[in-house]
Amino acid sequence: MDRLCCLLLVSLSVVSAQFVPPYTEECQTGMYPPKGPTFKGSVTWYTIDLDLPPSERWKLIITDKKAEVRVLHVLFPLIVDTLPYPFNEEIKGIATSSGVPLGEVVLYNIFYEIFTVCTSLVAEDSNGNLIHGRNMDFGLFMGWDMKNRSWLITEKLKPLVVNIDFQRRNKTVFKSTNFAGYVGMLTGIKPHAFTLTMNERFSLDGGYIGIVEWILGNRDGMWMSFLTRSVLENATSYEEAKNLLAQTKLLAPAYFILGGNQTGQGCVITRSRVLSLDIWEIELKLGRWYVLETNYDHWKEPLFLDNRRTPAMKCMNQTMQANISLKTVYDVLSTKPVLNKLTTYTTLMDVNKGKLESYIRDCPNPCMPW
Ligand SMILES: *[C@@H]1O[C@H](CO)[C@@H](O)[C@H](O)[C@H]1NC(C)=O
Ligand SMILES: *[C@@H]1O[C@H](CO)[C@@H](O)[C@H](O)[C@H]1NC(C)=O
Ligand SMILES: *[C@@H]1O[C@H](CO)[C@@H](O)[C@H](O)[C@H]1NC(C)=O
Ligand SMILES: *[C@@H]1O[C@H](CO)[C@@H](O)[C@H](O)[C@H]1NC(C)=O
Ligand SMILES: *[C@@H]1O[C@H](CO)[C@@H](O)[C@H](O)[C@H]1NC(C)=O
Ligand SMILES: *[C@@H]1O[C@H](CO)[C@@H](O)[C@H](O)[C@H]1NC(C)=O
Repeated sequence: MDRLCCLLLVSLSVVSAQFVPPYTEECQTGMYPPKGPTFKGSVTWYTIDLDLPPSERWKLIITDKKAEVRVLHVLFPLIVDTLPYPFNEEIKGIATSSGVPLGEVVLYNIFYEIFTVCTSLVAEDSNGNLIHGRNMDFGLFMGWDMKNRSWLITEKLKPLVVNIDFQRRNKTVFKSTNFAGYVGMLTGIKPHAFTLTMNERFSLDGGYIGIVEWILGNRDGMWMSFLTRSVLENATSYEEAKNLLAQTKLLAPAYFILGGNQTGQGCVITRSRVLSLDIWEIELKLGRWYVLETNYDHWKEPLFLDNRRTPAMKCMNQTMQANISLKTVYDVLSTKPVLNKLTTYTTLMDVNKGKLESYIRDCPNPCMPW
């Protein structure tokens, strides 16, 4: 089953069941600080102590979020022991403290790789500061509620969003926006060094082959969000992060959006399972002061049913480099259809200030399903 094909099938069924016209709007302004109908709530901070044994690390978060983790009823047993350390042990610890069957926690930890569409961007302001923003759009085709026009899983995931400060010896190593109980990383910052987000890459050339191979026992590739976790935890510079993200063999294609801590350090790494196909960097000399990725290779046109790239770029262009800030990036990420019914959270990061902030989102009607 190919993801692009699923997206098409779902879109057809959604559109035929309930016609939602493409809904786009003028670039938003003045949305920040977040308020009003597109802002559903703030995100709670937790600390994870990396000096604890992996199975102990998530106890507090899961104790708080037990009820929300338990609502995820899906089966996918026995893969945990095939996953590398420390992820296998962390996932077992989460299952123990939540009471959710292990197989379900495993599925929760890998289904991201299948059901998301997202928007990520890194922009450089006129002083050389880098701002990294992302919308996490999660829950594609996991049940469309026709009555109130929302995605069931997206709504269930919103209460699970947490910010985490990962520490060693009581000092921050990196920070992330996460779903409680999800041990990979989709959005994170290593303060004063780099920022990283991952977007799914729908691919006709083998999105699932690597995952099937993994289950069958051929395990030389790495889960994509485990790689981002390892990079945030253990890489110490933009260059090191870039090399690891570009060169590590993966189980499925992905986009890594990476920002550094000085001028020119922002890129989108387009990955196949084996290779980095392309590294697209900020290049001020060419007038490219930001890079922006949704879920399509930047050198190709996006799928006509799912074009969030053009509206996002239009708003970035309209904002202009001189006005780039957390505030204006939030405005861009608040403009429909960049903001859509799948948008679970928005995260804004400022590497030099070591700052990560995130907001739970809502997209009042009229609003595109994705
Ligand atoms: C959608 O409907 C369900 C049940 O009918 C409700 O629990 C949920 O909160 C609603 N979601 C929104 C966004 O209104
Ligand atoms: C971390 O801080 C806590 C409370 O402030 C303290 O009890 C603990 O000993 C500290 N741990 C380390 C490794 O410094
Ligand atoms: C990071 O490196 C440390 C030390 O080598 C290792 O114990 C830890 O498991 C690594 N973390 C990840 C997520 O790979
Ligand atoms: C940028 O990152 C490098 C590598 O981590 C570090 O050596 C340097 O001090 C950082 N620069 C700033 C301005 O934080
Ligand atoms: C935004 O600006 C860039 C650089 O000038 C240009 O290539 C791109 O076509 C513009 N996109 C939109 C949607 O305005
Ligand atoms: C953006 O920057 C330009 C040039 O610095 C300025 O004239 C304009 O007022 C700014 N616009 C906004 C919305 O801040």
